[in-house]
Amino acid sequence: MRFKVTVVGAGNVGATLAQRLAERDYADVVLVDIVEGLPQGKGLDMAQSGPVIGFDSTITGANTYEATAGSDIVIITAGIARKPGMSRDDLLQTNMKIVGGVTDQVVKYSPNSILIVVSNPLDAMAHLTLKRSGFPRNRVIGMAGVLDTARFRTFLALELGASVEDIQAYVLGGHGDTMVPLVRYTTCGGIPVSELIAKDRLDAIVKRTRDGGAEIVSLLKTGSAYYAPSAATAQMVDSILLDKKRILPCAVQLDGEYGIKGLFIGVPVKLGAKGCEQIIQIKLTAEEQAQLDKSAGAVKELVDAMARLGA
Ligand code: APR
Repeated sequence: MRFKVTVVGAGNVGATLAQRLAERDYADVVLVDIVEGLPQGKGLDMAQSGPVIGFDSTITGANTYEATAGSDIVIITAGIARKPGMSRDDLLQTNMKIVGGVTDQVVKYSPNSILIVVSNPLDAMAHLTLKRSGFPRNRVIGMAGVLDTARFRTFLALELGASVEDIQAYVLGGHGDTMVPLVRYTTCGGIPVSELIAKDRLDAIVKRTRDGGAEIVSLLKTGSAYYAPSAATAQMVDSILLDKKRILPCAVQLDGEYGIKGLFIGVPVKLGAKGCEQIIQIKLTAEEQAQLDKSAGAVKELVDAMARLGA
């Protein structure tokens, strides 16, 4: 029997992800959106790429959740992007309502699913999803680190003229300007990049990684990145559904690990059939720990703001 995956939000990230998953041919995909006809139309279009590409996964579009029943994984990409003149709290309040409502429906129809949260502000939305779902923390995971790490690896490969496949890197912390790229654990073909790239260049690459999302937003003018975000999410789905037990940086709620409690923070985790099966704790330098604590502080501010706004 095939797996079943639901993608909520048939916008740029959700639709690209649905296509990527269908092409893997291991799961039937249900695409949900509030806009009537949008998930149905995109779903039909994707299904018609099946004969050409060679997949038999079905793709069903829906505006309600009955068709999502019994999903193994549900990915939440629903939400709105910040519009001009909108405050951070306005955005938070709007996406809180959207993601909270989506979570209620998802949990009702797929009580045993694993939830992957993509909607921004990521760490706050993952926090809300965990709380609203009542799921154990291993079954609610935020997508941020794989994307941030992919950006870091892309820039490092460009700098070195090396294959992206040979670059191993880690980015920890919250998804945003407080992310913590771990240069010490970053290698090209097993060689620490600090031996291959001068410090000032490396610092510039770290900065560009931190601002990676904003760089794309400023080029696109409307909308934000979706090719790399959807690819990153699909890699997480692979590891869970195929029980690959890959070690990937993901946002999970910490319970004392890294000295942080009750907050979603990007850390290396083992992803398998049970979701987050292990949080890998690496020894950080005092400077790295301070950066991670700062990142946790930024996530806490958002969580406090959500409490103020009535989450
Ligand atoms: N239920 C289902 N879908 C919804 C709901 C809802 N309550 N509210 C909004 N949506 C849908 C919108 O109709 C839209 O099709 O979510 C989709 C969002 O798509 P885009 O606006 O194209 O946004 P996208 O680029 O896909 O980003 C989605 O992921 O990376 C993050 O910051 C990004 O939070 C954003 C999310």
